Amino acid sequence: MARAFAPGKCILFGEHAVVYGHPAVAVAIDGGVEVSIEESDRWTLEGLPFDSSRHPHISYILQEVFQYDGPSLRMQVKSSLFSSAGLGSSAALSNAMGAALHSHLNPGQPLDPVALARMGHSAEARAQQGRASPTDTATSALGGCVVVSGEWVEGTRHVFDASLSTPEGEREWAINAVDLPDNLEEAWLVIGYTGDISPTGRMVAGVASLLEEKPELEGEMDAIARITRAGLTALSAGNLEAVGMAMDACHERLQRLQVSSPALEALVEAARPHALGAKLTGAGGGGCMVALAREPRRVAESIEIAGGKPLISRVGAPGVHLLEN
Ligand code: MEV
Repeated sequence: MARAFAPGKCILFGEHAVVYGHPAVAVAIDGGVEVSIEESDRWTLEGLPFDSSRHPHISYILQEVFQYDGPSLRMQVKSSLFSSAGLGSSAALSNAMGAALHSHLNPGQPLDPVALARMGHSAEARAQQGRASPTDTATSALGGCVVVSGEWVEGTRHVFDASLSTPEGEREWAINAVDLPDNLEEAWLVIGYTGDISPTGRMVAGVASLLEEKPELEGEMDAIARITRAGLTALSAGNLEAVGMAMDACHERLQRLQVSSPALEALVEAARPHALGAKLTGAGGGGCMVALAREPRRVAESIEIAGGKPLISRVGAPGVHLLEN
């Protein structure tokens, strides 16, 4: 049996702006998706007959990436992420699926995280009407802290480039890694799930029409880009207070792009008194917020009391990897 795990991601700064080529900073989180694959006498997913039309990411990887025409497979998928919640669960699924299939077809051969990230990005782009940045898939593949940007960003290590034809034109991104300082181990991410889905494709399309209607809001994108750079500098220096301030500032700009929701606001407000900073994370509209905290349990309790589901994670978990049987 081939087994692989890929982590989810949490965007600390730059969601939405990254679709337009500005930088975004994301970290891999402890929760993720595990996929196991073995040959079988029929195609199943979680013990039920596999219907490829209901699982576009899996069928894209099987058919279009690997052009798999081997024996039927028994596939199991276990996720510890809230799904459609802005935590990159579909990217983690693509990466874990790609890794498990690679290992099934090429036993003993090491994984190529960059190839997996590229493959996951094309699967995401297809699912999001051509508007997807490589943030989720690259962070899940590489792990740690990743900066995705239209150009190389100072203080980061360039890993690979990605491009995509979107309805708004050609987009290119550089994917860069950041080494996090040791003192970040003192801080934790507390993710709060509102219980509402975050419809990424719809939220990204909503921002595109808002910008068309009110071109002056382009300024909010520039502001998010400035905050992202400041947040990254603070993160690289291990200045936790400044990271938290940048998170608060980023949330304010996202509110102006109309991607927050009353439920997200309630959780952000509940977390702030005990956190260094808090903001919505991912596409918004629902989904999750994230707080940076030295005492994560207190923040998790506040989130729970306000009606959210908390998840505590390290700031930067390992990327996609194979699991022993
Ligand atoms: C989704 O997690 C983040 C967005 O920036 C969309 C994307 O990057 O593809 C809203």
